[in-house]
Amino acid sequence: MIAPIVRSLSDLRARTKAWQRADETIGVVPTMGALHQGHLSLARAAREKCDRVIVTIFVNPKQFNDPKDLENYPRTEQEDARKLESLGVDLIYVPDPDQIYPDGFATTVSVSGLTDMLCGESRPGHFDGVATVVSKLFLQTSADFAFFGEKDYQQLQVVRRMAADLDIPIAVIGCPTIREEDGLAMSSRNLLLSDRARIKAPVLAEVMNDLREALLAGGRMSDLGPEAEAHLLAAGFNKVDYLELRSGRDLGLLDQAAEDARLFAAAWLAGVRLIDNIGV
Ligand code: PAF
Repeated sequence: MIAPIVRSLSDLRARTKAWQRADETIGVVPTMGALHQGHLSLARAAREKCDRVIVTIFVNPKQFNDPKDLENYPRTEQEDARKLESLGVDLIYVPDPDQIYPDGFATTVSVSGLTDMLCGESRPGHFDGVATVVSKLFLQTSADFAFFGEKDYQQLQVVRRMAADLDIPIAVIGCPTIREEDGLAMSSRNLLLSDRARIKAPVLAEVMNDLREALLAGGRMSDLGPEAEAHLLAAGFNKVDYLELRSGRDLGLLDQAAEDARLFAAAWLAGVRLIDNIGV
């Protein structure tokens, strides 16, 4: 059965209040739509843990630093609703824009430190947009649990910090990245890749896996990083925003494999920005 689609905060609250009165736990899966198996795995994790599951779909203008990127972002609401059909989702919240940003909206939630590097550096303002919309979605849905993919690892850490700092009573749960058979991390942006670019895209994960092996064998990022970047460019990537080894906890820069180390990459392929990260 297709879950009901709710577009106003008052309708959403009418339903969540009834669930809370019945002492039911609520899980939320925030998305921007164009759902893929990665999103569906989050909805399944929510279904397993919570009595009620809300999937939100909102293409959040405040987290796009490039208006073209916002314009091109895939929007596939009906298809998304069908994909959620067999997963037992209770409600799809597709807020009208004024339910998130009413006239006169003037508040920004900004997490410092964790947002200074990686995507925070190459996409100025992006994480302010994410933290602002996610804090609103947490408060609007009154969810007890929220599910995010580790593919956007920095986002996951930023959201955890934000929820803790603002005392929002929600447990933020990170779920593993889901990959295509050829290793490409699933992402809504993969839909924007041309056929030719799609063939080259898995090279990002390949280069990261090779780098991981070399780091585990005792190599240093300062030696191996430039070579790996050159490999990506030679394979047809147009630009590497970053390829860095960092602590998975505080995102501090590392040069060698360590407990909790993760490799992070963002690179452009034929006009599409791909990101990925793996534990080392
Ligand atoms: O990861 C995303 O799709 C978005 O950044 C999120 C968390 C839904 C906020 O708009």
